Amino acid sequence: MSIGQRRLGRTGLKVSEVSLGTMAFGRWIDQKASADVLDTALESGITLIDTADVYGSGMDKGNPLETGESETILGNLLGARRHQIVLATKVHGRVGLGPNDAGQSRYHIQRAVENSLKRLQTDYIDLYQVHRFDEETPLEETLRALDDLVRQGKVRYIGASNYAAWQIAKAHGISAQLRLERFESVQPEYSIIARGIEQELVPFAVSEGVGVIVYSPLGRGLLTGKYSYGGQPPAGTRGAAGEAAPDTVRTGT
Ligand SMILES: NC(=O)c1ccc[n+]([C@@H]2O[C@H](COP(=O)([O-])OP(=O)(O)OC[C@H]3O[C@@H](n4cnc5c(N)ncnc54)[C@H](OP(=O)(O)O)[C@@H]3O)[C@@H](O)[C@H]2O)c1
Repeated sequence: MSIGQRRLGRTGLKVSEVSLGTMAFGRWIDQKASADVLDTALESGITLIDTADVYGSGMDKGNPLETGESETILGNLLGARRHQIVLATKVHGRVGLGPNDAGQSRYHIQRAVENSLKRLQTDYIDLYQVHRFDEETPLEETLRALDDLVRQGKVRYIGASNYAAWQIAKAHGISAQLRLERFESVQPEYSIIARGIEQELVPFAVSEGVGVIVYSPLGRGLLTGKYSYGGQPPAGTRGAAGEAAPDTVRTGT
């Protein structure tokens, strides 16, 4: 299979048509196995690598102090290859016990980006994404904080994950009004069992030139054939570990 390149939405940034998600790095697989995955991905032509500050073993233990291992492993492994890829990470999830150790306040974003840069062993992030919508922080505050990071050269493009079309449209309105960077990409879940984005988000993204980077194309494992309808999830799977199924499966729609 040859993996092509395309523009991320309306931007001039070229990204591979297939990306590598690294949620498993440091959580389900160690650095050695992660190295094999990363090498195989890069050799196959993948240049878009996605991580998040919360990806790590703490996700399964409910321990916000054990986060960031995916970024740390990527930082250890990339070396000079860092400049040949598009490195995407995210901010929002809880990474500490303090009241400001999560979310999209200016306070948290400024601290979180420094920690991600350190773990990734780089001085810039190509695509910095807010991980989900933050109902407790004004979008103006988040967008200004992200815009500052672009001006400072710490971040090149900004994106949003798990946002509804109206939430990105609202953010775009604020960016236009205040002359701030706008979200150039969205990262939603999409597979044959999670098709919700086809109704609003994808038409919106096409209309506005927003790049769409989908996650969980195998329905978090449900589409691999290892699960049976009505049966218990097989041992060792994410289903057995209690990970929620996509909305369409949960609701039966
Ligand atoms: N933005 C967000 O909120 C968000 C959320 C989730 C994911 N993501 C991104 O999307 C990436 C991919 O997500 P995902 O891991 O949920 O994707 P996925 O491809 O839908 O699910 C991967 C799962 O499928 C199963 N699987 C994969 N290959 C298999 C094979 N050859 N044989 C048997 N089973 C196989 C494994 O399940 P078992 O481990 O159960 O065996 C594996 O964990 C993440 O790494 C992350 O970067 C983003």
